[in-house]
Amino acid sequence: MANALLELRDLEVAFTIGKRTYPALQHITFQVGEKETVGIVGESGCGKSLTSLSVMGLLPETAAMTKGGIVLDGRPMEASSREGWSTVRGKQVSMIFQNPMSALNPLMPVGKQIAEMAMAHLSVSKPEAKRLAMDMMAKVGLSRVERLYNDYPHQLSGGMMQRIMIAMALICKPKLLIADEPTTALDVTIQAQILDLLRDLNESTGTAILFISHDLGVIREVCRRVIVMYAGTIVEDASVEEILDHPKHPYTAALLQSLPSADKRGRPLYTIPGRVPPITDRGAGCPFAGRCPSASDTCKSAAPALWQVGAQHRVRCHLYADGGRAV
Ligand SMILES: Nc1ncnc2c1ncn2[C@@H]1O[C@H](COP(=O)(O)OP(=O)(O)OP(=O)(O)O)[C@@H](O)[C@H]1O
Ligand SMILES: [Mg+2]
Repeated sequence: MANALLELRDLEVAFTIGKRTYPALQHITFQVGEKETVGIVGESGCGKSLTSLSVMGLLPETAAMTKGGIVLDGRPMEASSREGWSTVRGKQVSMIFQNPMSALNPLMPVGKQIAEMAMAHLSVSKPEAKRLAMDMMAKVGLSRVERLYNDYPHQLSGGMMQRIMIAMALICKPKLLIADEPTTALDVTIQAQILDLLRDLNESTGTAILFISHDLGVIREVCRRVIVMYAGTIVEDASVEEILDHPKHPYTAALLQSLPSADKRGRPLYTIPGRVPPITDRGAGCPFAGRCPSASDTCKSAAPALWQVGAQHRVRCHLYADGGRAV
């Protein structure tokens, strides 16, 4: 890809628990190009948030990047350099979190929080920051922004708060917006509005989006490409159409089977039996082997490689060892 905005190269992140370290992410390699919309999907505990926190330089204290690296807009990010991260955060890459209530300051009017973000990163005066904040609030679909500017977070609905978070993330015009489950806490109507807003933003401003969700149905509303994660690794990576129409990994196929659709109406929804193994209990084989209908003895003993199975399609599964090229 010529213009990679974000590049993760064989990233490994591990937690130290007691005297041992446990990898939570392994072999994470992918790129997000300028203006691209990429989704990350997987069940709870697969490593979606850790991937995004790594990109923001916001890993928990007990976690560290133990291998590989991150290149943001051509700039290699040093895990140890707080300064390096704080110059890119907000300006190059911004993040919206699942729960806006925990990310906003409850004691400061919401408009002021957006304006402070502008003042911290753009060299603008206080009145100019206020004007920019109100413009952005209107742009993300909030109305009566003069009044709303002075409201406190608890006075707003969930959907309005998520719009405030989006305005805050966009005020410095980042090249990349990371959205980690931004609509999970919202009802379906508001969710649809926020997804529309993100899609419009990408189209009108060219902001690239890395969209994280456990729900492929939501991802397909916003993204062109999707990365499927399982137990801390990428198991499949392809265009959204390819993933929906020709899933290769048995895990992706199972995720699709559990998606609600019109033809499954009236029937109980499929759920994948078993659970994602915790980081303290990941053996040598494929972590999906215990839940996989196609697992063989090899799957239980050896970790699968990532195979290139199409021009833009990668899959980490022993089933494709003969037909693909290891990458
Ligand atoms: N502070 C922590 N200490 C130890 N392990 C952790 C910590 N935070 C996350 N993990 C582990 O790292 C793995 C990945 O977690 P992560 O939060 O990235 O998952 P996720 O895919 O975002 O899940 P969810 O859909 O629930 O948000 C999980 O197995 C989790 O238990
Ligand atoms: Mg998460």
